Amino acid sequence: MNDKMKAVLIREYGNNDVVQIEEVDRPEPRHGEILLKVHTAGVNPVDYKIRNGAGQRLGMTLPIPMGGELVGTIETLGPGVDGFEPGDAIFGMVHTGAFAEYAVAKAADMVRTPSNLDFTQAAALPLAGSTAWQALFDEAGLAAGQRLLITASSGGVGSLAIQFAKARGAHVTAVASARNEEFVRGLGADEFIDYTSQPFEQAARDMDVVFDTVGGEAFQRAFQTLKKGGFMVTVVAFPEDEAKRHGVRVTRSFTRPSAKNLTAIKDLVEAGKVRPNVDAVLPFAEIRKALALSEGGRARGKIVLRVAA
Ligand SMILES: NC(=O)c1ccc[n+]([C@@H]2O[C@H](COP(=O)([O-])OP(=O)(O)OC[C@H]3O[C@@H](n4cnc5c(N)ncnc54)[C@H](OP(=O)(O)O)[C@@H]3O)[C@@H](O)[C@H]2O)c1
Repeated sequence: MNDKMKAVLIREYGNNDVVQIEEVDRPEPRHGEILLKVHTAGVNPVDYKIRNGAGQRLGMTLPIPMGGELVGTIETLGPGVDGFEPGDAIFGMVHTGAFAEYAVAKAADMVRTPSNLDFTQAAALPLAGSTAWQALFDEAGLAAGQRLLITASSGGVGSLAIQFAKARGAHVTAVASARNEEFVRGLGADEFIDYTSQPFEQAARDMDVVFDTVGGEAFQRAFQTLKKGGFMVTVVAFPEDEAKRHGVRVTRSFTRPSAKNLTAIKDLVEAGKVRPNVDAVLPFAEIRKALALSEGGRARGKIVLRVAA
């Protein structure tokens, strides 16, 4: 068996010039791990942010094998892994190394892929889906009948957040630009605000929950849309004393792998209540183009890297 493989690595921080496809040793699964043949991998904003230097803040050391989520088939099981068989199609988040022909993943974080999705569609779910799920339900406790505003509703995270919130019975106000109105309404949004034609905070009031996926100034302005005692959850901003000032609760959610969350998402997908949206699929060799697309900030749904033909 050839024990070499191609993988995307950065050996220094910087722009896309530092992103290389290299021939490296195939990893070995340790206790509790699975070796996967990678078919597809979702590309997320965190990937270009790590490349730009955030890897250091996230405790990573160079060289960094890139990629944080994958879909693949099981090649070998490490010691102590039960419940999976070689050949099973599984998906989930990994710390690093998803942009490679083979990758190791913690078995406890992996779930079998939804039966009604292909490998490209499934790649849209683990990271963005876990992010939306944890922010809406684990952090903000979003419940049926509550009013939710999402600041970037058309992206990888927002497009899933709309569908999760609707499946829970919430009322969703989706902020997006006009070109994405039909898209977000099609996902179930009850109200739509075009942030390019008016300040969104002037068109929304009395929200129970705001899910902020933009950060910066949009995060600051979004407080005005919350009712007293409402809940702001952000995955981008670093809130300081905003909560006290606005009489609301605020938290920053950091996504973690969760087979439990991913299983709940898979169940909604298989029940036909959630469908992932893939905006662009690029071949492995075009990883730099995929990162540039993500960095452009205009993705409608997800960008996916096709690793195996
Ligand atoms: N904390 C965590 O653990 C965590 C986890 C996942 C993601 N994140 C962060 O969450 C953010 C969103 O991630 P993502 O994957 O959803 O990004 P994404 O897919 O790249 O988002 C692109 C979308 O954002 C929309 N958008 C851009 N600027 C906007 C604005 N000012 N107002 C409204 N919509 C806007 C764009 O729509 P238009 O073209 O219509 O503007 C586009 O559809 C990123 O910063 C990411 O790093 C954090």
